[in-house]
Amino acid sequence: MMKLPKWLINVHVLAIVCAQWGDSGKGKLVDLFAQWADIIVRGTGGANAGHTIWIGIKRFIFHLIPCGILYPDKVNIIGNGVALDPEVLIEELDVLNREGISYENLFIAHNAKLVIVAHRVLDIVRERCQGRVGSTGRGMSPTYEAHVGRKSLIVNDLLNSDTFKDKLERRLAEMVKLLRAYRQELMEQHGKDIVREIMEKLGHAELYHEENIFDFEKMSEYYLECGRRIASMVTDTDRMVRKSRVEGKNILLEGAQGTLLSVDFGTYPFVTSSDSTIHGLAKGAGLSVKDVDHTILVVKAPYITRVGDGPFPTELGGQQSEEWCRTTSQEDERKKYGGYVTLQSTDEFDLGVAIRMEGDEYGATTGRPRRVGWLDLVAGSYAMEVNGTKHIALMKLDVLSGCPIIQICVAYRYEGPDFRYGDQILKSGSIITDFIPAAEVLQYCKPIYEEFDGYEDIRQMKSRDDAPANLAKILDKIEEQGFIIDLLSVGADRDQTIFA
Ligand code: IMP
Repeated sequence: MMKLPKWLINVHVLAIVCAQWGDSGKGKLVDLFAQWADIIVRGTGGANAGHTIWIGIKRFIFHLIPCGILYPDKVNIIGNGVALDPEVLIEELDVLNREGISYENLFIAHNAKLVIVAHRVLDIVRERCQGRVGSTGRGMSPTYEAHVGRKSLIVNDLLNSDTFKDKLERRLAEMVKLLRAYRQELMEQHGKDIVREIMEKLGHAELYHEENIFDFEKMSEYYLECGRRIASMVTDTDRMVRKSRVEGKNILLEGAQGTLLSVDFGTYPFVTSSDSTIHGLAKGAGLSVKDVDHTILVVKAPYITRVGDGPFPTELGGQQSEEWCRTTSQEDERKKYGGYVTLQSTDEFDLGVAIRMEGDEYGATTGRPRRVGWLDLVAGSYAMEVNGTKHIALMKLDVLSGCPIIQICVAYRYEGPDFRYGDQILKSGSIITDFIPAAEVLQYCKPIYEEFDGYEDIRQMKSRDDAPANLAKILDKIEEQGFIIDLLSVGADRDQTIFA
């Protein structure tokens, strides 16, 4: 059992939420605090998320199963706010079966939202035909849209074949109308049936139907079979979690994505389709935010990343980087730049590539290179406000060891046309210190930096007092902003974690 940090004493519900655009190192923290927890709950997102799990020397990327699954005595829950693709879940269960890992203690919310392959197809097709968001193509937006549009399929439907067939038929009828129009548009552009191609790529050629787009009978049988496979895990997890809280069990809420990707608080419209702040997480786990005793905001520092499209004021290499990350694979990047760029590179774009390679910043779900930029305290303070916590975990601090100069963004200069945002009138030259989460504004925001000298290797650091002087200055700057540092991570291993 880990030695408990002092701030965890008297805490029973602990939430881990990313302050940025995801990929900040939540997985390491969830794995760490899973030792303390009795129950680990995922409350938002779906198979668009990905975390790496090591089983012995083998590495697996899981998208839905909570990180606590490797602890046989812990209860793991996929909560009501999750968009659950049964196909992905079953693949993950198959991995656990093959590795001899029990999932007896895994439970699925009966009211989790159901992702079906039609949602994935619509997601992918819309990315091609409408403005890009850089979606992972895992069907998130059609699934959550169905929920707020009062036509969602839920996991419980899989347990009742008549209900399921009835709801599926209605859901498909609506989606087919949309897909027919998109198919036609794509046919005119490409001269071939892209929808069929997508179904083939998704491994579901058998569910495709030339005229109806989906073969209803085959599709219902496929999902009902998935339902039989997971039926024993489906339960009222909301009640289970609430009851456990009353009983004083330790509950760990595992966030997905990050505050700036939240559909409610993020850099809209370049966001995911669930609320990835503490609000969505608590609700999606079956709790109220008031039930959460302590929220840790996860902050990758002093660099940050974003995957997919959308504004990113501190991006190293700006548009060149965005374009490069959109169109290049990890293999091509390593082939072209491996050995040529370093943390000493003076060109911004090159430095971004070097940090990406050093930090292994490639998407766990899509493999895409993550866009890299400097730590942004304007966005960070906003995440602190939105999530109602000052407590942060600083992750991946070791990655920039040896980088000679470090910049931290403390404000933006707006350089766009006149724009009215609520009662504020932004003009070219306006200084912004209170984050505005609107893409129309952020796309014109240029960072104002404070510059710091870099620090040497910190992988052996054992306490905050061991921090080299230059890192200490950076930590002081972060605290000056109002953050309370709960934890520092100076390497991937569990023992490279320093509790404050
Ligand atoms: P979607 O959630 O697949 O619809 O993608 C919407 C946006 O969120 C895209 O910019 C994705 O790149 C981003 N996104 C979704 N999931 C993750 C994640 O787990 N980490 C980082 N970005 C994500």
